[in-house]
Amino acid sequence: MRKVQAMIPKTKGRVAWESPANIALVKYWGKQPVQIPMNPSLSFVLKKSVVEINMDYVIDPDNDFKINRFTLNGKSSEPFSEKTEQYLVRLNNFFPFLKHTQLVIDSRSTFPHSAGIASSAAAFSALALCICTIDARINEKKGDGDEFMKKASHMARLGSGSACRSLYDGMVLWGETPLVSRSSGDHAIRLSDDLINNALMRLNDAILITDSSTKRVSSTHGHALMDHHPYREQRKIQSGINLEKMLAALAEGDFTAFGEVVESEALGLHGLMMLSTPPYLLMHPNTIRILEKVRMFREETAIPAYATLDAGPNIHLIYPETVKSNVLPFIEQELTPYCEGKQWIDDRMGDGPNRL
Ligand code: PMV
Repeated sequence: MRKVQAMIPKTKGRVAWESPANIALVKYWGKQPVQIPMNPSLSFVLKKSVVEINMDYVIDPDNDFKINRFTLNGKSSEPFSEKTEQYLVRLNNFFPFLKHTQLVIDSRSTFPHSAGIASSAAAFSALALCICTIDARINEKKGDGDEFMKKASHMARLGSGSACRSLYDGMVLWGETPLVSRSSGDHAIRLSDDLINNALMRLNDAILITDSSTKRVSSTHGHALMDHHPYREQRKIQSGINLEKMLAALAEGDFTAFGEVVESEALGLHGLMMLSTPPYLLMHPNTIRILEKVRMFREETAIPAYATLDAGPNIHLIYPETVKSNVLPFIEQELTPYCEGKQWIDDRMGDGPNRL
């Protein structure tokens, strides 16, 4: 005990990061301990949907770990404070100083209140970046660069699997696959630019809110239901095939092939939910209406816009920047009537986290 205490410095400071949400094109669904994905997934980060964390820390060998204050958008939040505490206690094993740290955490989310969009990837990646920055500071290590981001991605993964993909711009891969060198289940990697055609590097994501209520079945539970799922092995094979198709589409700049994988992955994810034991359904009637509208729009106009869903009823409509002037009126006139309070977010591919 005395030995550990001797290594803990007495210091205090402040650190702040803003980190984005991400949208998966090939979905992570199912895992094994500890938060290692059952299959590789691929995503990109968003521009506007971000969480900002401001963290004041006091490290003292005589302190025990404690969060003295936690606020979300200026208000104290018991559930988020508890989740953050559980996460940081888990990180104690990696960062001995945390056991002796007291924190004041103020967070801000740009997600509209109760939008029903998971902000956990943004929040856990921002938290991981703050803790890794304190670690770098007190151990006189680099607080940026490849090794730092790899560690932050690894730590973010322990909060929420998909959070490890929020650390990079461009296309981000998480999970081991023979298709991509350096791929890993421990942390995500950024796909190098020469693997992606420029046409697919300027994507928009219109997030259409069909239902903002809390999900009936959490992602955590959904992942667990994959443990004994009748299609578990088939899903591993199918996600590998889809990843291969996606990588080819990205390399060739083929938006139609890209979009076909995107929609197949989204519907496949919800198909797995419907085939779970017990089965469940997270789509809202308006989710289906929007999916149909999007399909008809494509058939009538030949404009490439494809829909995806996470583990919830809200739709992400992905389309290239070049067709934005055609897609915006379609969203406003044909899709917002199916959105709760006509709510939607005009988001796009972002640049990754920002140190504030
Ligand atoms: O990171 P989690 O445990 O919230 O799981 C995310 C799962 C999906 O959003 C459905 C898919 C994905 O890859 O993001």
